[in-house]
Amino acid sequence: MNYMSKDSSNEFNKISQEYDKGRISEDILFWANEAVKIAKITDKSIIADMGCGTGNYGIGINEVTNSTVIGFDPVSGMLDQAMKKNSQIHFVRAVSEWMPFKDSIFDTIYAAQVWHHISGRQQSAKELYRVLKTNGIKIIHTISHDQLKIKTVFKFFPEILEGQLKAYPSDNELKNLFEKAGFRSFKAIHYEIERYQMADEFIEIAQKKLWSMFRPISQKGLEFGVLELIKWKNDTNNLPIRNDELITLFVAIK
Ligand SMILES: C[S@@+](CC[C@H](N)C(=O)[O-])C[C@H]1O[C@@H](n2cnc3c(N)ncnc32)[C@H](O)[C@@H]1O
Repeated sequence: MNYMSKDSSNEFNKISQEYDKGRISEDILFWANEAVKIAKITDKSIIADMGCGTGNYGIGINEVTNSTVIGFDPVSGMLDQAMKKNSQIHFVRAVSEWMPFKDSIFDTIYAAQVWHHISGRQQSAKELYRVLKTNGIKIIHTISHDQLKIKTVFKFFPEILEGQLKAYPSDNELKNLFEKAGFRSFKAIHYEIERYQMADEFIEIAQKKLWSMFRPISQKGLEFGVLELIKWKNDTNNLPIRNDELITLFVAIK
């Protein structure tokens, strides 16, 4: 079975060199420190960065803790960028549905903005359970449905909200999946952190489709948002746009 569509893999390969431009408003070290607090990560811990992409979160956790980190992702272009950024971390080409790791080896698995891309979700939950040590912790870094509904990006590009509500798992779906896989002690921690983004950054992200949410947009929907952003620039003398980081860490224990 093919666990990632050719289209999706091609899209990630195509944008891999510019991917990090779309993530500059994120405070990776803040999230790395949250992971450390939640999972009590130390320099002795072994961490998997699932769907690591260009390695942002695994690199952040390694920087903060000096723990051993293994990042894995199916897209070679994304992994190439990750390897350029950090040569101490092991980056492996793999999917979450079939992880090339032994049973019970990781203390923590961190999965940032990846769960909505996974097609074999129950199989992935089962694999996460298999490769985590007993009492190991998995942290899914995602956006809840309530958070999606108030995200700034959809004020400019309303057409794509519905698709994202379908793509992103709800807190309930995550709980059900992980409960079925054997996990316990579920906690969804919701964060709302003040952030700003320039209109031009939004325009570049949308036009180059640096966020996957822009892949299914119509030409009309794209033009509408870009025109609204240009209007914002003109009306406000190019003030930054408030674009809070609305994130949910969905945590569970094996
Ligand atoms: C939005 S990116 C997030 C990358 C990185 N975690 C970050 O936050 O910067 C989603 C990543 O999930 C990866 N992905 C898609 N399907 C996957 C699967 N079945 N198993 C593991 N990773 C997958 C994609 O290749 C892509 O790099």
